[in-house]
Amino acid sequence: MSAVPIPQMHYRSMRAADLPVVAKLEKELYAFPWSAGNFRDSLSAGYDCWTVCHGETVIGYAVLMIALDEAHLLNIAIAENWQNQGVGRAFLRHMVEVARNAACGIVYLEVRPSNVAARHLYRTMGFQQIAIRPSYYPTTLGREDALFLGLTL
Ligand SMILES: CC(C)(COP(=O)(O)OP(=O)(O)OC[C@H]1O[C@@H](n2cnc3c(N)ncnc32)[C@H](O)[C@@H]1OP(=O)(O)O)[C@@H](O)C(=O)NCCC(=O)NCCS
Repeated sequence: MSAVPIPQMHYRSMRAADLPVVAKLEKELYAFPWSAGNFRDSLSAGYDCWTVCHGETVIGYAVLMIALDEAHLLNIAIAENWQNQGVGRAFLRHMVEVARNAACGIVYLEVRPSNVAARHLYRTMGFQQIAIRPSYYPTTLGREDALFLGLTL
């Protein structure tokens, strides 16, 4: 298991009981959030859904879809009051390890060009741009492209 940057922090699989908290955080963190149903479907589909917790409190979550030897990180987020303390980087490292342990050769993800913090994190973790997905995300003014990134394991 990956090292944690903060005492009492640990990673564990997401449970159905976490869905209200996860959906609440998601609403706070994204202008166009996933619904609780999206997370429930991810759990039902058997995706690798994880939380990062401080004691009993869920402070972040991630959803990784693994198909054969490829992993796709569908979501990763850290509660606002826990951001900028190294939690996101450590949790992403953990999710990459989950993919590696499942014998994946690559981790894919999409990110908004406007998401400076996430882009910095992914770039410094070694993710490289593979393609641009035009008009992938909704915005208040229309659509925004997605950068499609990959990390070869
Ligand atoms: C992206 C996110 C997960 C990062 O989590 P975090 O816990 O704040 O990340 P860390 O503290 O580990 O910081 C990671 C790096 O990002 C940098 N960073 C954080 N905020 C930044 C900002 N606004 N601009 C530029 N860099 C930033 C940090 O300085 C750090 O880089 P460094 O190690 O080189 O100093 C978090 O910002 C988040 O949950 N955002 C909302 C949801 C989201 O956008 N998820 C990603 C969708 S693709």
